[in-house]
Amino acid sequence: MPFQITDLLNARGAGLAPMAGVTDAAMRLLCHEQGATWAVSEMLSAKGWVFSGGRNRNAQDILARLPGEGPAGLQLFGSEPAYIAEAARRLEGSGFQFFDLNFGCPAPKITGNGEGSAMMREPKKLGAVVKALVEATPLPVTVKIRAGWDSHSVNAPEVAKVCEDSGAKAVAVHARTREQQYAGKADWNVIRDVKRAVSVPVFGNGDVRCGADALRMMEETGCDAVIVGRAAQGNPWIFREIAAAMRGEEAPPPTPSERVAMAARHFELERQLYGEKLAVLQMRKHIAWYVHGMKGASRFRERINQMNSAAEVLAALGDYAEEG
Ligand SMILES: Cc1cc2nc3c(=O)[nH]c(=O)nc-3n(C[C@H](O)[C@H](O)[C@H](O)COP(=O)(O)O)c2cc1C
Repeated sequence: MPFQITDLLNARGAGLAPMAGVTDAAMRLLCHEQGATWAVSEMLSAKGWVFSGGRNRNAQDILARLPGEGPAGLQLFGSEPAYIAEAARRLEGSGFQFFDLNFGCPAPKITGNGEGSAMMREPKKLGAVVKALVEATPLPVTVKIRAGWDSHSVNAPEVAKVCEDSGAKAVAVHARTREQQYAGKADWNVIRDVKRAVSVPVFGNGDVRCGADALRMMEETGCDAVIVGRAAQGNPWIFREIAAAMRGEEAPPPTPSERVAMAARHFELERQLYGEKLAVLQMRKHIAWYVHGMKGASRFRERINQMNSAAEVLAALGDYAEEG
């Protein structure tokens, strides 16, 4: 049986939301090991990828997979159906189980090109992009949308219906407008309204920070699953916590030494993926997230940010674990 989006819903748990600069293969693997039922890659520009002929270094990093990862979607962004279709045809064999389309990115350099969340303002054009991708690939296609462009144009239910009618197999909703960026509260009512508007699975997103939040979002909105972004940064254990909450149980929080050990493992995986130099830079933010709130964390962070070699970083993590 080929992979289907509904397969993602067989296991109890939550998915890892796409985050540029964060949800690479290493992060996806660690989250999967802690119970993330699926994950989505960092966003890849369809047009950029087609133009570079796939030789762009950043694109290679985004496309990397690690053995042991769970099901994952490759997220594309773009506003031109022809580039989306061409990228999908060339990327079909890249090892991802499905494609996801980004209609949520609020960054001006993306929306300025009419891409990401700017597409929410043009539902017809957005539908054409979804349709082009669906027709270009045998893999299932999902979409990720926002509540709308701003508080005066909350059109997620309408856009979700356009996506469904264009062949999308699931809709993920980040319940904030583009205007809100990542601030303010996500309005979960929007997720409930999207759920009422479509019959494909709906993945709720925005402000899920613990197991109880995930249960509450599912109960209040009727969404089929939740996806977690920021709460997974430095905290892959959020997924075991959510899975446990769904079974009516409680998962123990990680101990300080588990946190430091996870940071070291994350670092090893990053090194395997990108080599030492890039891994050291890439890990600075992850290490800061892993040790957040721990004793002496800010001093430790400063130290890590001055280091340039793997040996130094791993030794510092070892010392920190012993002190902790
Ligand atoms: C650093 C960062 C990068 C992100 N990159 C993407 C992205 O590439 N594609 C996307 O659809 N959403 C992206 N998002 C949005 C998240 O997927 C998610 O919708 C948002 O953070 C709200 O969920 P949360 O409250 O669980 O974090 C990003 C968010 C953050 C914080």
